[in-house]
Amino acid sequence: MELQGRKSFLHRCAKSGDVVHAGLVITLLVGVWYSQALEVSTGKVHFIEVMNGSSVLLPCTYASCIGIKNLYFSWQFKDNGTLIKLCEAVIPGEGIEPNVKIYHERVEFVGTSKKSNISILLHNVTFEDQGEYICFARNPKEKDRNHSAVFTLYVVDELRVVDNTLTLIIVSVLGGVIGLIILIMVVKAVVIAVLNRVQEKNKECLVSSSGNDNTENGLPGSKADSKPTPKA
Ligand SMILES: *[C@@H]1O[C@H](CO)[C@@H](O)[C@H](O)[C@H]1NC(C)=O
Ligand SMILES: *[C@@H]1O[C@H](CO)[C@@H](O)[C@H](O)[C@H]1NC(C)=O
Ligand SMILES: *[C@@H]1O[C@H](CO)[C@@H](O)[C@H](O)[C@H]1NC(C)=O
Ligand SMILES: *[C@@H]1O[C@H](CO)[C@@H](O)[C@H](O)[C@H]1NC(C)=O
Ligand SMILES: *[C@@H]1O[C@H](CO)[C@@H](O)[C@H](O)[C@H]1NC(C)=O
Repeated sequence: MELQGRKSFLHRCAKSGDVVHAGLVITLLVGVWYSQALEVSTGKVHFIEVMNGSSVLLPCTYASCIGIKNLYFSWQFKDNGTLIKLCEAVIPGEGIEPNVKIYHERVEFVGTSKKSNISILLHNVTFEDQGEYICFARNPKEKDRNHSAVFTLYVVDELRVVDNTLTLIIVSVLGGVIGLIILIMVVKAVVIAVLNRVQEKNKECLVSSSGNDNTENGLPGSKADSKPTPKA
């Protein structure tokens, strides 16, 4: 009875091991499939700071190993939680330029499907433009799987420049203070070293020839004043 129970337990273990193996294989397969799928990217930099009134490039590219056909893409702006569509288009095939529908007066499409580039330019940036921009793409070849990348825009004005000079001032003052501290420490070290040497010499003198300290050192006036000899 006991043996049988053990056997079945072992059997169960083997079974669960099989399940684990199968899971691993599936995971690997899915991983391979994923790497072949469409990828949407805003590049290495995921955010940018821009001054109000200027124009800014919102970068986005796509890549697909299995190729594209009727690739749908759009740009959306997350304004206070709600998504606003800025533009959208379908790229019929590799290298065929899309006919982009633009829903925002200051948005310009600057991408080209020859370079898998679906970047847009945002002109005359205002503070209301600050937020997240979502580059969205869907490749019907992949059962309409959704892909997106987020690019964050920060809008600043000239105040930032003043801030920069302020930090520059702070940094230089801090640098000056640190430099001064270092200088003081160096001077202190030198002074201590000199004093030590003088003291040692004084000691030697005291030991060897107790009285003739001043004349031997060759500095008659100052030594006598600063170092009072009656110490021991
Ligand atoms: C940016 O905003 C500041 C503050 O609102 C304003 O004074 C400045 O004129 C703006 N700059 C541009 C280029 O619009
Ligand atoms: C977001 O929307 C709500 C409701 O419309 C509004 O009360 C709030 O002020 C908005 N916040 C910003 C930062 O615009
Ligand atoms: C940006 O602003 C300038 C000057 O205010 C204007 O001439 C230009 O048409 C604007 N561009 C867009 C795309 O709104
Ligand atoms: C996409 O196109 C824009 C405009 O031509 C360009 O500035 C940008 O560098 C391009 N991005 C990439 C990744 O090629
Ligand atoms: C893809 O996004 C669209 C909206 O843009 C949504 O309706 C659809 O359900 C999404 N599909 C998947 C598979 O998530």
